[in-house]
Amino acid sequence: MHTLPADHTTIAAAAHLLRQGQLVAFPTETVYGLGADATNPEAVRRIFAAKGRPVDHPLIVHIPDLASLDQWAQNIPDSALKLAAHFWPGPLAIILNKQPSVPLEVTGGQTTVGLRMPNHPVALQLLQAFGGGIAAPSANRFCRISPTQASHVNEELGAAVALILEGGPCQVGVESTIIDLSGLHPHLLRPGQISRAAIETVLGESVLISAPTQVRTSGMMAVHYAPATRALRCPSERLPELYQQLSRQHKKIGLMVSQHLVDTAPAAQILMPKDADLYAQALYASLRKLDSLHLDIILIEQPPDHDDWQAIHDRLSKASARL
Ligand code: TXA
Ligand code: MG
Repeated sequence: MHTLPADHTTIAAAAHLLRQGQLVAFPTETVYGLGADATNPEAVRRIFAAKGRPVDHPLIVHIPDLASLDQWAQNIPDSALKLAAHFWPGPLAIILNKQPSVPLEVTGGQTTVGLRMPNHPVALQLLQAFGGGIAAPSANRFCRISPTQASHVNEELGAAVALILEGGPCQVGVESTIIDLSGLHPHLLRPGQISRAAIETVLGESVLISAPTQVRTSGMMAVHYAPATRALRCPSERLPELYQQLSRQHKKIGLMVSQHLVDTAPAAQILMPKDADLYAQALYASLRKLDSLHLDIILIEQPPDHDDWQAIHDRLSKASARL
């Protein structure tokens, strides 16, 4: 059996596989992760091979508790302790200076390491059972949409994974917020459910946004999280006209919209939630569904221009072009 419901026995089996240097996929609150023993360079190399990911793209190490932070990081600033105490377990990854013992395979050759304590019972039980750090990127092939369900992991990686722990759909649905605290000032590297404003409130200082060229993070690349089908973002008011135009060209069109904007076959239309958290939860599964329909184009109604939608705008901008 390859995908198994997560319970006491299968989690123990997964921890055993990790100790043997195998790959195990597991649910977190954000997306499913592809895990390996973060102290085993050979196991970590398997992650890169399975994903087809360039080896200089660093991985996040998942840890079971705040107390293990200094096994992985050194010169930890107070700001990191403040954020971890406030947001962990939760969808926040913190970049810190690494301990010399952290393999360079994990950090993509960098002297910093990304750390996160996930807020998912299965992930936490796995971390406890394993008793160490688990390096885990999202369990998708490089540049593809992150998996938010166990079946997505199977589609993406199949036999490359020794075991997939089934833990239902992910609640958050987009990857963690990444904050870099390894330098003089905090930098936001990737927006997520935890907003820049929420981080600034806890830190009592402003957080800078890194320009994509300054950071070596795969999540910051322009083409990422992308469906194979061409996707286009479009403001609500222009969508009906564009739809008619494409229909006249006999294009097969998929729609990701928050309301009925055009008369269309329901099969290729996904009505998205109007709440940002619920939208994020549904985002990747919806893109994946439309991508599987062999359409010519996916039209995505531009979501509201509001702070709560920052992570969604970021992911949509990587999945689609703008009209
Ligand atoms: O929500 C998440 O963070 C999920 C779940 C599984 O925890 N993981 C995830 O991992 O999204 P991944 O590898 O797909 O994205 C992690 C991002 C990458 O863009 C990576 O380059 C960046 O974190 N990253 C990791 N360590 C870093 C470091 N030392 N410096 C800069 N960026 C780093
Ligand atoms: Mg990823």
